[in-house]
Amino acid sequence: MDDVMKVFKEFHSMPSKEKLNECSNGSCKLYTSGENHRRDAVHYWKDTLTHPCPPSSPQQYIKYWPNKPSNYRKVVGKYTEEVRKLGMKILEMLCEGLGIRREYFLCGGLSENPSLVVHHYPPCPDPTLTLGLAKHRDPSIITILLQDKNVRGLQVLKDDEWFGVDPIPYAFVVNIGLLLQIISNGRLIGAEHRVVTNLRNARTSVAYFINPSNESIIEPAKDLFVNGSTQKTMYKSMSYEEFRTNFFHKGPKIESELRN
Ligand code: OGA
Ligand code: NI
Repeated sequence: MDDVMKVFKEFHSMPSKEKLNECSNGSCKLYTSGENHRRDAVHYWKDTLTHPCPPSSPQQYIKYWPNKPSNYRKVVGKYTEEVRKLGMKILEMLCEGLGIRREYFLCGGLSENPSLVVHHYPPCPDPTLTLGLAKHRDPSIITILLQDKNVRGLQVLKDDEWFGVDPIPYAFVVNIGLLLQIISNGRLIGAEHRVVTNLRNARTSVAYFINPSNESIIEPAKDLFVNGSTQKTMYKSMSYEEFRTNFFHKGPKIESELRN
């Protein structure tokens, strides 16, 4: 965890031009504060690096990752491998709790398209004017988040009030995402969260999103409705690709459209 944090801090301390250069060969992307990549997020203050980490063919995709710092691929490769194991274990336990097949997320490509999202929030001259990241639920199944040990920023909404989720060294924050909210038919609700900026210190965070392949169908798990269950399906069925396109255009406002 320390190694991967160090690598990402080094990456993000490079000039934007150099960072962009490391992301010029395809699937890897760098978004900077100037670029409004989600329409709802009018104000935010960060640089974000993102790239896929499909578990089935590591060698094929690692060559598209940044190559600076020089140990990037090695350290990030190891990290994503371990964090995936953790994520799959958590998903198995969630299945058990929901009463659906333990292998649910291993099927239908549901966990085949994970991506890594690395945010860098620079110090902000006036934190009252902007957020690091506006209020949202993650558009994932679950997200495993590694926070900077030393800098606060993440907040979660509970009973209409924002609470700080302060970093605990060597602990992850695990978010239930919108996709799991759909699959669990609303029994698990994604946490609404945001990131505030900081006057003095830069903050780095590393989110591993467990995401489906584009063709995967996202719908309430059929296992929830067996044996004469009287539950109604609360959410429509759609492909992950459809969901993504929708989310790209509407951001968090997508939620009303997901319902039946
Ligand atoms: C996200 C997110 C939190 C953070 O990437 O969806 O909520 O602390 N990140 O950066
Ligand atoms: Ni999030």
